[in-house]
Formats: sequence, structure tokens, C-alpha cells
Amino acid sequence: MTNEKRNRGWYGKLDKDGFIHRSWMKNQGFPDHVFDGRPVIGICNTWSELTPCNSGLRDLAEGVKRGVWEAGGFPVEFPVMSLGETQMKPTAMLFRNLLAMDVEESIRAYGMDGVVLLGGCDKTTPGQLMGAASVDLPSIVVSSGPMLNGKWKGQDIGSGTDVWKFSEQVRAGEMTLQDFMNAESGMSRSKGVCMTMGTASTMASLVEAMGMSLPTNAALPAVDARRMALAHMTGKRIVEMVEEDLKPSDILTKEAFENAIMTNAAVGGSTNAVVHLLALAGRVGVDLSLKDFELGGEIPLLVNCMPSGKYLMEDFCYAGGVPVVLKELGDRLRSATTCLGGDISVYADGAECYNDDVIRSMENPLKPAAGLRVLRGNLAPNGAIVKPSAATDALLEHEAEAFVFESIEDLKANIDNEDLPVTPDTILVLKGCGPKGYPGMPEVGNMPIPGKLVKQGVRDMIRVSDARMSGTAYGTVILHVSPEANAGGTLALVKTGDRIRVSASKGELELLVDEAELEARRAAWEPEPPHYTRGYAKMYIDHVLQADKGADLDFLVGKDTRPVTRESH
Ligand code: FES
Ligand code: MG
Repeated sequence: MTNEKRNRGWYGKLDKDGFIHRSWMKNQGFPDHVFDGRPVIGICNTWSELTPCNSGLRDLAEGVKRGVWEAGGFPVEFPVMSLGETQMKPTAMLFRNLLAMDVEESIRAYGMDGVVLLGGCDKTTPGQLMGAASVDLPSIVVSSGPMLNGKWKGQDIGSGTDVWKFSEQVRAGEMTLQDFMNAESGMSRSKGVCMTMGTASTMASLVEAMGMSLPTNAALPAVDARRMALAHMTGKRIVEMVEEDLKPSDILTKEAFENAIMTNAAVGGSTNAVVHLLALAGRVGVDLSLKDFELGGEIPLLVNCMPSGKYLMEDFCYAGGVPVVLKELGDRLRSATTCLGGDISVYADGAECYNDDVIRSMENPLKPAAGLRVLRGNLAPNGAIVKPSAATDALLEHEAEAFVFESIEDLKANIDNEDLPVTPDTILVLKGCGPKGYPGMPEVGNMPIPGKLVKQGVRDMIRVSDARMSGTAYGTVILHVSPEANAGGTLALVKTGDRIRVSASKGELELLVDEAELEARRAAWEPEPPHYTRGYAKMYIDHVLQADKGADLDFLVGKDTRPVTRESH
């Protein structure tokens, strides 16, 4: 033992306080010697039956414990708030920062020396990382892993992506409601996260590319026995990380974020990675801005998974997973330390691609330049984003009249009106779906195509909003417009019939209305009253930062690594 362990402030005291900390833990049958100064490893678990994507994490926690015991540590599992993306209203994103607070304060208040973060579903991974980074004890991630590929009527179907597709087909009269409902059971056949390259698998891939998990963590299916072995190995490794004092701040450097941005482009990852990486960077004090995401702009799309491609996460795993992507990125990768202590390039060493249609090479990509594009202009002075790999190329340079929905209720009530004055060229605009407005910045930015156009076979249109969209979604969808409408952004001033110009190549999003007219509209604009007036949601609305700052709470930016010295009794 080199360094004096943090846990000695709880379990090493030969006084009343030490008695209290140890004695109550002993009611679980722990013998004296586990309090001898060995590393205490917290296993921070987001298991919940209401987060089906994380329902395998109790098993994985047992795997982590085996590894911790084997390496001479003392594992202690604890629950934190879980965020079920598909179950929570108005959106799990409203609670990402609450989970981060739960994680941060739990780690700080308890006598642990290092932490294993067990998460998976979209908001659980960033929420846990943000919280852990703000305490900065040695930390490592084990992800849920993806569900087995969806199977229905002899075909592979993908979480989320095929929900959006089938739902449009039902509206177009091309699929029966009975078939639609039958597909539910085929889509989700095992524990695990969405098996498309949605936000969960995106974040797991970026965690791996940043070196915050062991190699292969992202793609191994949830139910693959090798994931249990990876949990075991992670338990062993965190004990060593405590001895080495290898902390998130050593791993989550600017270079690691740049590697994540390039990896996100190469895997065709979720737009949601933007808000999560920005928020995480804010916690560790890395100067990351939307502009840095342009680094991904020139990276080709290599991974052929839905929604940008056709395969699913099981295929990605069997083709070699993230290590192969890192190998393809090659010299572009920045030098950065990983949880193994070495450089990230070690993850790529020995990687071999077993299916070059699933993971393409740099010489044979699916799309030549696939990274997210940042758009700016008077409609988004602080930026907006679009994901070209999931968009229609022809729409990425476009100018047309806007049709405006003032709220999500307005959209739901009117989108299928047969006399809606829209054509396939129209730019659909939705307001009131930003962090403060909804609140929580939900995944409604991929608004449905108007019913009358769906029936004509239209499957994509430009859509502009202050919302996010699911990582599993597709289309020419311009998201995260900042400032949002409810913060008084120009978005609030758009009227039906205004012309909007979009140029992904030039990075432009312009409302073609003259400044005097906009000023007059701005003077007449009145903010709508907040949708929540008490509790956490009120605190969130009062303190949430805009999307271009990661939608963290203003008072949570940064970290506090000071020891807690005051005792409870
Ligand atoms: Fe949980 Fe997709 S809904 S990972
Ligand atoms: Mg989602």
C-alpha cells in the first residue's frame, strides 16, 4: 500500500466514529479484515426494472465483485437514480443532471476509494460520468451492452430506428396496426440497450474511445458471457487504478474528447453525444466547445449500423467492435492515457476486422465525411447541429418557407391535417422543446412527416427545433438550436411563411427576415410561463445551461475534490 486510502477516514478510525462506520457494515456479515485498509470499491449501479436497458446490471455487479475480491479490494454496491429512456416523462434528459448529482454526492459522502460505474441506457452513462468526474476518484465504466439483434418475420430489426420507420409505414397505410404491434416482441429479445448505434451504444463507444472502460466494452452483447468476464476484469483493474491513483482527470483530457469526437463520426454516432460530451468536459475543466465538433466533419463513416447504415450492434461486435474503429483512425488518434494506464493506441493493437462491410476501412467508407455539422446564423447564433450521415444529401443545401408549430401540442394536434399548407420542400419548425421550455430538451426534433405527405411517399423533410432527437432516429433534422425559443432565441420569432436557408457545407442556418422586422417581433415577444413550478424541475429550469454548453446546471460545472472532514455523529 503506497498512498493512505481515503476509506481510512471512515474505516480506519479507532474511536466512536470508526466503530459506527464499521459496526453497521458488519451487519451484512463482513469480517474484520475487510476493513484493514484495502481499497474500498463502490459499484455505482443504475439497475432498475424501469430501465429495461440496465436490467442486466445486477448480474454484472456480481462479476465486478469477483474481480475486486480477487485483486484484494472490498466491493460495495450502491444504487443511484436510474433513468429509463423509454419510460420517463416528459423526458429522461430532464433528470440526467439529477442522476449526476446523486452519483457525485454518493461517492463523496461514502468511504470509498474508487468507483465502477454500471450504466447503459442513454442518460445513465453521461450522468454517471459527470457525477464521478466532479469527485475525481479513480473510476471506470462497465456498460450494460446491447440487446441481441431484433428479429421479426425473418429480418433483423433495430431498436428505435425501425419504430420510426414502421410508424411512418402505418401512417402511410403500408403496414397494418396488428403487424406493428407484433413487431414489439421481436424488437426487444434480451436484456441490454438499444442494439442500433443509438445514444446508448454511441456513449459506450465514446467511453471506450476515451479510455474510460476496458477495450471491447461497447459492443459485447448484454447477454454474452464475455461481458461478465469483462466485468470481472474491470473489478480487478479498478483496484489497481486506486493503487496507481489514476483518476478521471488523468484520462478525460482534451485529447480524449477529440478522440471521442472522431470516433462519434466514424461510428455514425448520436447527436446526443454533443450535449453529453460538452457537459462532461465542463465537469473536468476541459475547454470544449461546439466548434471542436467540426474535427469530426472530415472523418468518414466506417460503421455500417442503423440508423446511418444497415447492421446492428451484434454484427458490430462480431466484426471487431470499437478497437477496429480506433485502428482505422490510426494516426489521427490523439495520444491519451486510458484506464489501463497506457496510451489509447494500445486498444487498437492487434485489432482485426472480421467483416469489412460492417466496419469499413478508411479507403472504402460508407460516406466520405460523416461527422456532425455545426450550423450558425441568425436563427442559431450559438449554434445548432445536423447529422449528415442520417440525412438526405439533397436537403443539406436548401432554402424554403417555414411552417411553424408553436408547441408540441400544436404539432400533435395538426400534423395530420389534410389541408396543412406544406409541400415536401417546406421547412418544419418546432418551438418550445429546449432545456428550459419543455423542460428537459426531449427527443422530439425528428417530428413526424405531415400525414398527407407521408401518404404521397415523402420520408424526409428539413425539420428545425430546439429539441434533441433519439440517437436511433434519422432524417434531415436540425437540432439543439441555441438559444432555445423559451430563452428568447430567434427561434421564438419565426412565423409560418418566413424563408429559412440551410447550408450544411457552409455551416449556415439563416432566417431570411430583415433585422428591423425581427426587432419588432422581439419587442412583442412574451415568454410562456414555466411548465413546472416546484421541486427539482423548477431548479432545473432556473439553472439549466443552453444546449451549446451541454445543458448542465450552472452550479454543477466544475468539480470539488476536497475531503469531507465533518462526521455524522
Ligand atoms: Fe435505453 Fe435505448 S432506450 S438504450
Ligand atoms: Mg433516446
